[in-house]
Amino acid sequence: MSTNPTDSHASADVAARVERRWATLMVALVLLLVAMVVFTGLHWAMMPPSRVETIDPETLHVSGEFVETNLGSALESDGSVTVRVLAQQYSFTPQCIVVPTGVPITFRATSADVVHGFLVTDTNLNSMVEPGYVSTFRTTFDKPGDHLMPCHEYCGTGHQGMWAHVKVIDRDAFMQLANQAGNSRRLSCVK
Ligand code: CUA
Repeated sequence: MSTNPTDSHASADVAARVERRWATLMVALVLLLVAMVVFTGLHWAMMPPSRVETIDPETLHVSGEFVETNLGSALESDGSVTVRVLAQQYSFTPQCIVVPTGVPITFRATSADVVHGFLVTDTNLNSMVEPGYVSTFRTTFDKPGDHLMPCHEYCGTGHQGMWAHVKVIDRDAFMQLANQAGNSRRLSCVK
């Protein structure tokens, strides 16, 4: 056992050196993480959601953009397409969504009851649909095809039966359908 004052002085030096080393490492880690946040934010435009859109789930069926006649695909005046989807236990309305290829599509979805999942297979569309909020996502489909749209958030006993379809059709065929339907009707592929 050492009681030599020079010894305790030396061990205090060692402790101070070790502490400084750890502190430097921690500061470096924090700086690295901040740099990563700045880099991903600027380079990939990855941001936390900045815009929250709320809606009253109680009155969805009565008024506003999610009334039944307004659900489905609508051709906008700028040539893009807006698809409004309502999720409820245990189905999506419309059951079959029709969209064109090569046109920017905006999906707007909300739930009338509990949290549901919105996922379009073979695409990167994947989101939660929550009561009280409008989920918005944009995409463009390159080629025609049929995609499944299963609910992927457990929402109750009928969850596994909650499906819809997304049918991507040729742009010209879609425009023809839209012209026939006129402005007042929303398109869907529900027979
Ligand atoms: Cu809706 Cu699971």
